[in-house]
Parts: sequence; structure tokens; C-alpha cells
Amino acid sequence: MTAPAAAPYDAPVPRLDALISRNLGLSRRQVARLMRAGRVCDQAGQRLDERGLPCRPSDGPQTVVIDDTTHVLYHRFELLLHKPVGVVTAHRDARHPTAYALLEGTPLHRDLRSVGRLDLDTSGLLLWTTDGTLVHRLTHPRYAVPREYHVGLARPFEDPTPQLRLDDGHAPGLVALQRCEEASMHPALRRSARAQQHASITLRTGRFHEVRRIFAALGSEVVDLCRVRYGDIVLPPALAAGEHDPIDLQARFAGLSPVPSKAPPSPPDQGTG
Ligand code: URA
Repeated sequence: MTAPAAAPYDAPVPRLDALISRNLGLSRRQVARLMRAGRVCDQAGQRLDERGLPCRPSDGPQTVVIDDTTHVLYHRFELLLHKPVGVVTAHRDARHPTAYALLEGTPLHRDLRSVGRLDLDTSGLLLWTTDGTLVHRLTHPRYAVPREYHVGLARPFEDPTPQLRLDDGHAPGLVALQRCEEASMHPALRRSARAQQHASITLRTGRFHEVRRIFAALGSEVVDLCRVRYGDIVLPPALAAGEHDPIDLQARFAGLSPVPSKAPPSPPDQGTG
């Protein structure tokens, strides 16, 4: 018997006061006060005092003027960050600077979530979005989004066999692995003197320390690691460490669908990647 089709989900249309509150980090009460006082206008100078005014995401970002300052109100926001070595992928951390702090001042900053994580010592491409469903899809093994890393290694590694398993029994989702010349590595890869060999590795899984554990299982040691691609999004070579660019991830991953699998469903990847 086939399961009944799910009822279509009608997301509530956001209200103007809620949108202003999300974008400017104000409480709904503060927004109500501003609107009542006639301090919120459209670009033509018309007072906006209907708090429940519907603002459809399909209409695109809305612009309001509050006390002569123009604000663009976003429904969602997405960006790519060149994560430097030495920052943690977290919103808060007692010991290290955070990748989140590098995004200060971006639209909807409070709602941004990273797509997976990179280790403290890993640099490279880290995507961020306010859309939790998209984060889930981009990190879930069923969607098998390929991630490419450039790697500096302390010594040569052995070729992997199909039986390759990591220390916890995990079979890595290896898509490609090749030895490379250092000159072909992405400029965002740190160049340590200890690195004797370079490689490019592409995985469709994102387990904890997966790249480091793969090379350990192949008899080597990762000394420098940089993620250079997520799906078909490449870290722009000219984007400096710590810098970010806006990007429309929903459009870039619009065609993403789960990969059919005979294996029982796995939980979302909890680790790096
Ligand atoms: N694999 C790792 O070992 N570390 C990362 O940061 C990402 C993938």
C-alpha cells in the first residue's frame, strides 16, 4: 500500500513587523513603537503603520526607511566564507575566535547556520544559510553532496582499497583521490614545511575528522587541509582568508535530490564536512 500524499504545507506569509524585527534585531514591541510613531516609511516616504502587512518572500527583499536610514529587509540570506586556520566553526567559544564572528554585520546575522563544520586547523570553503532545511539537505548522507579538499601530507600515502575502513568501522564515501603537484593546490591551502606530498580528495560524506582519519588509515598524516569545493561551489581563489561573499545557495542547489540507496537510512553527519 502506498502512503497518502502529504498535505501541501502553506508557510505563513511573514508580516512586516516580524521582518523588521528579524533584520534589525529589535523586539516586536520596539518595532510596534517605531511604527506607531510614524518613523517607518517606504522609499516613497509613505508611512508604514500596518504591522501585519504581508511581505511575501517571492517579492524579494523589501526596503524600508526608518528615521532617514534605508534598510533592506531579507527573508533569507546565504554566503560563502573563506575560513582561516585558527578559528572554530561555532557561534561561541571560550578559547578561540569563531567563524561566526567573522560574519558580523551581515544581513540576518543572528539566524545564520554553517553548512557542516571545518576543524580549527582546516581552512577553506564554509557555506552559511538562514535556511535550516537546506543545512539538513546539504549535510545529510542521502544527498551525497561531494566535498573536495586539498591536502598537504607529512609522507606518501598508500592507495586505498574498496575495503578501506576508518578506526570506527566507517566506510568513507570516497569519490576521488589523486596525488598532485604542490603548484596545483588552491592558494588557500597553508604551505607547511612539513608537507612532503600533496593530494586532492573528494568525499560525499562528512564525518568527524574524516580526511585526517582517511590519510592516517593510508599510512600518512595530514599537516595542511583546505576545503576547496562543496557541490559545484568553488572557493574563489582571490577571496582572502576571513572574507565572505553573498551567494544564492537555494538556486545553486535547486536540483539537489536524494541519492537512491538500498542501505538503511543513516543519520545526518555530525562531524566536520
Ligand atoms: N575532514 C577533516 O578531517 N577535517 C575537516 O575540517 C574537514 C574534513
